[in-house]
Amino acid sequence: MTRGATPVGVEGPEQTARWVRRMFARIAPRYDLLNRLLSLGQDRRWRRLTALRVRQWLERPGARALDLCCGTGDLLVFLARVSARTARPDVLLAGCDFCRPMLRLARRKLPEAALLEADALRLPVPDASLDLVTVAFGFRNLADYHAGLAEMRRVLRPGGAAAILEFSQPTGRLLAPLYAWYSRCVLPRVGGWISGDPDAYRYLPESVSRFPGPEELARWMRDAGFRQVGFERFSGGIVALHLGIA
Ligand SMILES: C[S@@+](CC[C@H](N)C(=O)[O-])C[C@H]1O[C@@H](n2cnc3c(N)ncnc32)[C@H](O)[C@@H]1O
Repeated sequence: MTRGATPVGVEGPEQTARWVRRMFARIAPRYDLLNRLLSLGQDRRWRRLTALRVRQWLERPGARALDLCCGTGDLLVFLARVSARTARPDVLLAGCDFCRPMLRLARRKLPEAALLEADALRLPVPDASLDLVTVAFGFRNLADYHAGLAEMRRVLRPGGAAAILEFSQPTGRLLAPLYAWYSRCVLPRVGGWISGDPDAYRYLPESVSRFPGPEELARWMRDAGFRQVGFERFSGGIVALHLGIA
């Protein structure tokens, strides 16, 4: 059974975490640009839809929300927008990531936000203290998926929600082979060229193809104790958003 991210030539959870952190530190300066380019601008829409889907938890009085693996803060920006609509002064929205260069870029976009340098597998957060935990395109990189889900479940209050936005595999007869070709041929070349880090953009499609399908991730969420688990595919299944209630 897949336990976690497995970059080629890297063994064990400690080494995997170190490899992932260093890789994101190297590509941080070009990360946003490449996201926009390689997703043809769709990545912003996926994050916006995610923020809209979790709105009811952001609207709770005194809501506490944490975006894991927040990177440069792009999901946090949309969460903050949705939460601002309720204009509740008592909402706390925070982000965490274990890669300092990514957090520095997040800080530029969100000067006021609470940003923590922390590992998503060992959150410095008490049990049952949050209403919402989100993670966009970070879950796939965890060294241990089951430990990641257990940690999300641990920090959520009863009735709180976990939202996982992650790459998936499109199923359409036309889109599936087109996307496979794009991931194999275009993405590593363009990504490697612009970021100056071919390894990183070889890892990206590899990690997506090794990641479980949405049904399996939903099953893992149920096994971790989440209820009412469901998922929604965006852009023909290129990404999927999973939601589960603690
Ligand atoms: C692909 S980026 C996603 C960033 C952001 N969520 C977004 O939507 O653009 C993955 C991020 O996850 C972070 N990450 C990976 N494993 C982590 C872990 N165990 N704990 C904290 N952050 C982690 C990386 O440092 C990186 O910033």
